[in-house]
Amino acid sequence: MASELSSHLELGSSLTVPNVQELASAIAPSEIPERYFRPEAETRLVDSIDDDELPVIDLMKLVDPELFDKEELSRLGLACREWGFFQLINHGVTKEMIEKTKNDIMGFFKLPLKEKDAFKQLPGQIEGYGQMFVHSEEQKLDWADMLTLVTKPHQDMRFWPINPSSFRDTIDKYTLKIENVVDCLYRLMAKDLGIDPQVMLKNLSMQMQSIRINYYPPCKQANKVLGLSPHSDGIALTVLLQANDVKGLQIKKNDKWLLVKPKPGAFIVNIGDMLEIMTNGKYKSVEHRAIINMEEARLSIATFHLPNIDVILRPFLELINGDGELYKTISVKEYTKEYFSRKLNGKSALESMKLKKKGG
Ligand code: OGA
Ligand code: NI
Repeated sequence: MASELSSHLELGSSLTVPNVQELASAIAPSEIPERYFRPEAETRLVDSIDDDELPVIDLMKLVDPELFDKEELSRLGLACREWGFFQLINHGVTKEMIEKTKNDIMGFFKLPLKEKDAFKQLPGQIEGYGQMFVHSEEQKLDWADMLTLVTKPHQDMRFWPINPSSFRDTIDKYTLKIENVVDCLYRLMAKDLGIDPQVMLKNLSMQMQSIRINYYPPCKQANKVLGLSPHSDGIALTVLLQANDVKGLQIKKNDKWLLVKPKPGAFIVNIGDMLEIMTNGKYKSVEHRAIINMEEARLSIATFHLPNIDVILRPFLELINGDGELYKTISVKEYTKEYFSRKLNGKSALESMKLKKKGG
């Protein structure tokens, strides 16, 4: 299944590009190679959002029958429909587990390049340490190194770091907890959407899961480079944890880039393309990107969830309404192939799935 995703579909980058952490430490501030210059990263486009502007959802108020708050459910629905993003607090994943996860991740990225390279991606594959979405020699490059691992179903462990020695165990435990949180969110979303939770979970909860740990080295000319190109996530649901206190995630709202300021211990959750398709556009998969800090490295861990490879993506019947189906019917496998065949480029994969509205 997932091994099929990474091994046989040739989903990864076909070209190898420099390690950015190494490059950043080797060059003078004025020497950034041309391929990393991104005039569109200019910060003047950026507005900051106030802490409480991005919806904050308190999971405790939704799962504890004694605390259940109907308004909180409406806020969740609104966040998924209008923002495509929210912060999740009181999610039940302990502080200790989050700290352990952060520490082990940092432990890996602090290792000398030679040690990290033992877990390097193979050409055309997505798992392992390296970059993604590089398909041509001319393409602009992102200022980041990544470690991608499939966590469910388990792959052969060759790309899983063995140093720190607790890394595997930590990531296993962390991702299992995240999976539980995600199942819980799916149930709540079903409630908000007015669909049977069993129908929602049928395709989503026997899901596949993978992680991407993003390492963004600092750059003296931070506003000339981009950590991660604008994109929407090509899966169903993402849970992101910032592994240190450096901010950098921006989301597109009303054509402006807004900087997300995570609350301590919060997860940033976002709707992916597949959930937009399955909700017939009711929930939005929103474009986002990562910017770079001048002084400090930034680290994040994104946990991606998607239905099994053979599932056919199509809107839930209850959500088709008068609009008809707004998206082409496509399998998870085909959509994934389509997504990875492109460079990260806004919502281009999702846009290609939209059906023209009748009479529109
Ligand atoms: C991603 C992503 C943002 C970040 O990995 O898909 O959007 O802040 N990451 O690292
Ligand atoms: Ni993303």
